[in-house]
Amino acid sequence: MAFDLQGKRVLVTGASSGLGAALAVGLAERGATIGLCARRQGHLDEVLAQVQAHSPDSRAWAVDLGAIDGLDEFAARVLDDLGGLDVLVNNAGMPKRRWAWEHRADEIDDVLRVDLHSPIALSLALLPALDASGGRIVFIGSVAARLAPPSEAVYAAAKAGITAFAETLRVDLAVAGSPVGVHVVQPGVLDTPLFQLPDNDPSISDMEPLAPAEIVGAVVSALDTGAAETFVPTWFQDIPPVKTGDLDGFLQGAAEYTTTRLHDLGRPLPARPSEGTDRP
Ligand SMILES: NC(=O)c1ccc[n+]([C@@H]2O[C@H](COP(=O)([O-])OP(=O)(O)OC[C@H]3O[C@@H](n4cnc5c(N)ncnc54)[C@H](OP(=O)(O)O)[C@@H]3O)[C@@H](O)[C@H]2O)c1
Repeated sequence: MAFDLQGKRVLVTGASSGLGAALAVGLAERGATIGLCARRQGHLDEVLAQVQAHSPDSRAWAVDLGAIDGLDEFAARVLDDLGGLDVLVNNAGMPKRRWAWEHRADEIDDVLRVDLHSPIALSLALLPALDASGGRIVFIGSVAARLAPPSEAVYAAAKAGITAFAETLRVDLAVAGSPVGVHVVQPGVLDTPLFQLPDNDPSISDMEPLAPAEIVGAVVSALDTGAAETFVPTWFQDIPPVKTGDLDGFLQGAAEYTTTRLHDLGRPLPARPSEGTDRP
C-alpha cells in the first residue's frame, strides 16, 4: 500500500548536500514537512529555501551529528519544533577510502561515530515518538555494506554495521508489536560531492555515478512496499547471494579486479603493511 507522505513530518539528516538535499526537496514535493540537519548552516539555508517552496513549515537545524552526547537534546528539539515525527531518514555520512591498514585511529573513530554510532543513537532517541506515530526509519547504507569494496574497509564496516542494526531492530520491533517500519537503501556510486571530499585515496570505480533522484525514488518505493533492503541499481541485489555462495572465490575475484584496475589506471599497488606508510 502506498505510504502517503502528505502532511508527514520527516527528518532528513545530512540534508545540506548531495543525496540528503535531494531527499529533502523530493519528499517536500510529495507533501511532507521536512526537518533538515547537517553542520553547514549556509548550505542548509539554501536547501531549506527550496524545500519551503513546497512545505512552508519545514525547518533546519545546524548540528554536528558526530557529537553523540548532544543527540538526545537534538531529538527533543526536533520533536518539539515539528510537533512529533513520522519518518526519520538517516542519510548523513562520511567516506573514507584507504587501504585497510592505512587508516589512522582518528579516522576509524570518525567513520564509526558518524556512519554507525550516530544513526543508531539518533534512531533510538526518536524511536518512542516514531512508535507513537506508527512511523518509519530509513537508513541510507551503501552497496559497500555487502560487496567488500577495495580500500573502504572501515566505511564498509560501518555500512554493514548499520545494515545489521536495522535488520535486528526490525525483528525486535516486530516482537514488541510496534508498527515502526525499518528500511535500508543501499546505493551504488552517486553523483554527489561525497567521494570527492579531501583526505581520501582516489577512487578506482569504473561505474557511471547515479543521479540522487534515483535514490529518492528508491526511498519512496521502500516506504510504499515496506521492503527491508533496497539496492540501487536493483541488479546489485543479485550479487550478495553469489558472494555468500562462494565467498573465497568472490573475495579473490575482487582482489584480482582491483589489481587489474590499478594497473589499467597506471596507479601503484598498495605498500604491504610491513613496508610502512608515508602518512603522518
Ligand atoms: N556518494 C556515493 O557514492 C554514495 C554511495 C553509497 C552511499 N552513500 C551514502 O549516501 C549518504 C549521503 O552521502 P552523499 O553522497 O549525499 O554525500 P555528501 O554530499 O557529502 O553529503 C553528506 C551529508 O552528510 C552531512 N554530514 C557529514 N558529517 C556530518 C556530521 N558530523 N554531522 C552532521 N551532518 C554531517 C553533510 O553535511 P555537513 O558537511 O554540512 O555537515 C552532508 O549533508 C551517506 O550516508 C553516504 O555514505 C553515498
